[in-house]
Amino acid sequence: MNDRNPKTFHVKSFGCQMNVYDGARMAELLEAEGMSAAAESAEADLVVLNTCHIREKAAEKVYSDIGRLKREDGSRPMIAVAGCVAQAEGAEIPRRAPSVDIVVGPQAYHRLPELVTRAKAGERALDTDMPIESKFTALPARRKQGPTAFLTVQEGCDKFCTYCVVPYTRGAEVSRSWAAILDEAKALVDHGAREITLLGQNVNAWEGEDEKGRTQGLDGLARALDRLPGLERIRYTTSHPNDMTEGLIRAHGEVEKLMPFLHLPVQSGNDRVLKAMNRSHTTASYLAIIERVREARPDIAISGDFIVGFPGETDAEFEDTLKIVEAVNYAQAYSFKYSARPGTPAAEMDGQVPADVMDERLQRLQALLNEQQLAFNRATVGRRTSVLLERLGKKPGQLIGKSPWLQSVHLETDASLGDLVEVEIVSAGPNSLAGAQA
Ligand code: SAH
Ligand code: SF4
Ligand code: F3S
Repeated sequence: MNDRNPKTFHVKSFGCQMNVYDGARMAELLEAEGMSAAAESAEADLVVLNTCHIREKAAEKVYSDIGRLKREDGSRPMIAVAGCVAQAEGAEIPRRAPSVDIVVGPQAYHRLPELVTRAKAGERALDTDMPIESKFTALPARRKQGPTAFLTVQEGCDKFCTYCVVPYTRGAEVSRSWAAILDEAKALVDHGAREITLLGQNVNAWEGEDEKGRTQGLDGLARALDRLPGLERIRYTTSHPNDMTEGLIRAHGEVEKLMPFLHLPVQSGNDRVLKAMNRSHTTASYLAIIERVREARPDIAISGDFIVGFPGETDAEFEDTLKIVEAVNYAQAYSFKYSARPGTPAAEMDGQVPADVMDERLQRLQALLNEQQLAFNRATVGRRTSVLLERLGKKPGQLIGKSPWLQSVHLETDASLGDLVEVEIVSAGPNSLAGAQA
């Protein structure tokens, strides 16, 4: 028997930054309903598993997590499955895991309180609608924040890369309004945020009208946020190469608070594979963008995403991916083995690559990317730079922050969380830097 009158909740997020943002908004929503946050699932009357469907491993994890929620006395909390698995699998989830009380998709989570009420009455509550009304207008105002905050400005994807579930789990591309975004940014800054990361599945496809009715792109939004007092840093993620406008590239050289970091996934370095992926850019067009961005902002750090073992990828085609990595020289990157996702065109393609071949390709790619990341980190040693202090380190007096290039910097300081301090970088490892306050 589950808990029928939850007073405490815990939200566990498994996915991308937007999934983390959604998790924070669901927590705010439940708090506005008078519930309080518990630090762990084991202490909560309601557990929200905020899931990710992008790769098989991520999607399967939710089922083992559900199993683990059973308490020693045989009881369990009220269980809600939210996020992209909820959207993709819907009613299949309670069929496979009967202890699930609520299933709620990423475009319907503003209705979570109603779903909890229905679950309290013993009903199994499912909502995977993509309603016309925006969940954003129904969500309560932003609450207490740390020094860094996410802000969703664009959701959904119309690109339909052949391997990807996002267009199905998040729906069509939608941009939030200029006013809604600026209002939320102000609220975040009022609650202590000094850095805002603008989020979207295709964040650079954001489009809107400013208060004077002029059409604006993401660069216009960055320029408006640049004028927001109290905000120190602006970031955005994730961008698609095809939406990398001249205006946005120029903004990297002109907008002071826009950080010198660009996450621009290429996925593969081979044009046949890119075409089969329906990426609608080529290696040449990608490299041309990188060149223009570097002209605008020479010290910019480039990050990317890669998939190895896309169906039909040959050894020679994989070698092309290593070549583009050499050509770009990444500061940081994420790389994945292709995972066939139900309902996507690539899952039906011939030439699925064996697991051991994918393993070997991934190892080689990651070795190269790690080498580049270490070299990038080492190149900052001896430099003075600003660091935004974000969290406590393990040692007493140690704080951890981020450099403009998104590197973690550890330092001993009597400054406080949320401070922007001048630091000299004294040493570098593969994943972090050590600094001394300058
Ligand atoms: N909207 C973003 C990222 C979406 S998902 C973009 O277009 O860049 C994040 C990353 O997961 C993708 O960039 C891709 O590298 C990876 N990914 C997506 N689907 C995948 C799949 N089926 N198998 C392996 N990796 C995948
Ligand atoms: Fe997925 Fe491609 Fe859309 Fe990114 S652009 S979310 S990889 S379909
Ligand atoms: Fe995962 Fe959905 Fe994000 S599938 S990567 S949580 S958009």
